[in-house]
Amino acid sequence: MRFLKQALLVAALALVPLAGVGAAQAGNVKIGFIVKQPEEPWFQDEWKFADQAAAEKGFELVKIGAADGEKLMAAIDNLGAQGVQGFIVCTPDVKLGPGLVAKARANEMKMMTVDDRLVDAAGAPLASVPHMGISATRIGETVGHAIMAEIKRRGWNIAQAGAIRVSYDQLPTATDRVEGAISILKAGGFPQASIFDAPQAKTDTEAALNAATTVLNAHPGIKRWVAFGLNDEAALGAVRATESVGIPPENVIAVGIGGAESAINEFKKPKPTGFAGTVIISPRRHGYETALNMYEWIASGAAPEPLILTSGTLAARNDYQQVRKNLGIE
Ligand code: GLA
Repeated sequence: MRFLKQALLVAALALVPLAGVGAAQAGNVKIGFIVKQPEEPWFQDEWKFADQAAAEKGFELVKIGAADGEKLMAAIDNLGAQGVQGFIVCTPDVKLGPGLVAKARANEMKMMTVDDRLVDAAGAPLASVPHMGISATRIGETVGHAIMAEIKRRGWNIAQAGAIRVSYDQLPTATDRVEGAISILKAGGFPQASIFDAPQAKTDTEAALNAATTVLNAHPGIKRWVAFGLNDEAALGAVRATESVGIPPENVIAVGIGGAESAINEFKKPKPTGFAGTVIISPRRHGYETALNMYEWIASGAAPEPLILTSGTLAARNDYQQVRKNLGIE
């Protein structure tokens, strides 16, 4: 009996370190990070900060760009074949929601979304998939306030100005952002009839430039313009459009969202352009924190919070360095 007890104790002790190994050993953890637009500075920054989490915790990070649904499905299979246990994704199409959930499940991987939240067949957010995104309406409102303040500072007659709403309405966070901005413009007396939709085919600068050019050409009588959209690329595309039709920068007020390299490079130009500001959001939280959340989920079974919404801070050409410093960005 005593011998048996001892034998059991030895066996139990022997199991202790084993239990600590299993899934929790960092060396075994592989995490995927898929983004829809790898060339965009925002997503490069997300990856950079996810890499930091990987270096700190000692897991392997597999980064893949997937610009459309087909590439995304292939990327998920690819991660599954590599033995990845979970991934974070900013999907090129939020309507793939239920399909992605099934795909992740078939590959026995955990899934968390970042930036763009998946929807179901009825367009409602997929609450079962943990998500980190920006507080889209609030941040859009900040854009609106920034535009109104600049209109007042320049002493414009609001009745004669036009607004370019660079839009990508198939993406709920994009609609929430621009509608947040519009609500503030309208509250400030901006005429609804002077707000023009500029639907972009893709969420990059070139697509925004094309969309905004169409609006400008349709309204040659309007001499002063404000512009806003989903991100810095949208606002910058509108600025490039005004430049291409010869509208001077003092007649343009565009405010973006992001604060990554595209915005900073614009602020660094020797002469001010129509890009009046950006709401700086946090690629560190979206990259580092999501990667860490996924790591904890895999290693210790603690699922991330279902919905995390991050905030933004307005910055302009004259104060962006100070704002970045205050936010702890370089
Ligand atoms: C979307 C946009 C990106 C960036 C993120 C932030 O994915 O396409 O440019 O603004 O949201 O969450």
